[in-house]
Amino acid sequence: MALGVPAVPFTFVVHVLGLVSIVMVLIWNIKYRGGLAWDSATNKGLIFNIHPVLLQIGLVVLGGEAIISYKAFPLKKEVKKLVHLILHAVALVLGIVGIYCAFKFHNESGIANLYSLHSWIGIGVIILYAIQWLYGFVIFFYPGGSAGLRRESLPWHVLLGIFVYVLVIATAILGYLEKLTFVENSGVAKYGPEAFLVNFLAVITVLFGAFVVLASISQAPAAEDDYAPI
Ligand code: HEM
Repeated sequence: MALGVPAVPFTFVVHVLGLVSIVMVLIWNIKYRGGLAWDSATNKGLIFNIHPVLLQIGLVVLGGEAIISYKAFPLKKEVKKLVHLILHAVALVLGIVGIYCAFKFHNESGIANLYSLHSWIGIGVIILYAIQWLYGFVIFFYPGGSAGLRRESLPWHVLLGIFVYVLVIATAILGYLEKLTFVENSGVAKYGPEAFLVNFLAVITVLFGAFVVLASISQAPAAEDDYAPI
């Protein structure tokens, strides 16, 4: 399915919103939450802070950029495919490291793991993301499936990819809501600057996801080998 409008203007919006969201998540965690640390004897919260930063940069922004890589530039199909799979690989690795940091924070602070809806959907998302990447790599890149298998797999790859990506956005929103609720319960003002920053960051994340989906179902810029087989 494709909309009869060009994707490129939507992809510009995606780049800008993605950059804004990265700046916002960094300001939040560095200025308001005390910074990021792989290890800390005195403030375990700094270990947790790596979690939203890597998930926002990785699964949300790089994952979104990977999805629109076929629509953003008039590159050759093979180059677009390479950009697509590399960006998704980086997103996946950042996602796994970011989730590891949430577990590390919980374990070192004596907090239970996997008790929330956010964490349940989050685990499902990272598993589906990894399966989707591996299947795509084996069938479309190396060693590559037969032409028939690739043709039949492509619509499922696109559909599952968009489904998982929508879940990524939903999981991030649940995460922002949950963390902001925790910090508000520990005294941060409900209408203060931090609360506005996090709520706007979540809204920008929703808009980012919407423009990624919009770009992904719009017309790619013309390229010389547009109609080459996948
Ligand atoms: C789409 C990206 C995300 C995924 C896949 C994800 C996944 C996860 C997972 C699997 C856990 C469980 C860790 C454990 O039980 O030890 C977790 C914990 C947590 N995450 Fe995320 N997360 C994402 C983004 C975010 C964001 C953007 C925030 C915002 C601050 C956030 C906030 C939290 C919080 C507060 C916890 C600890 C409480 C809990 O386990 O629910 N997450 N996340």
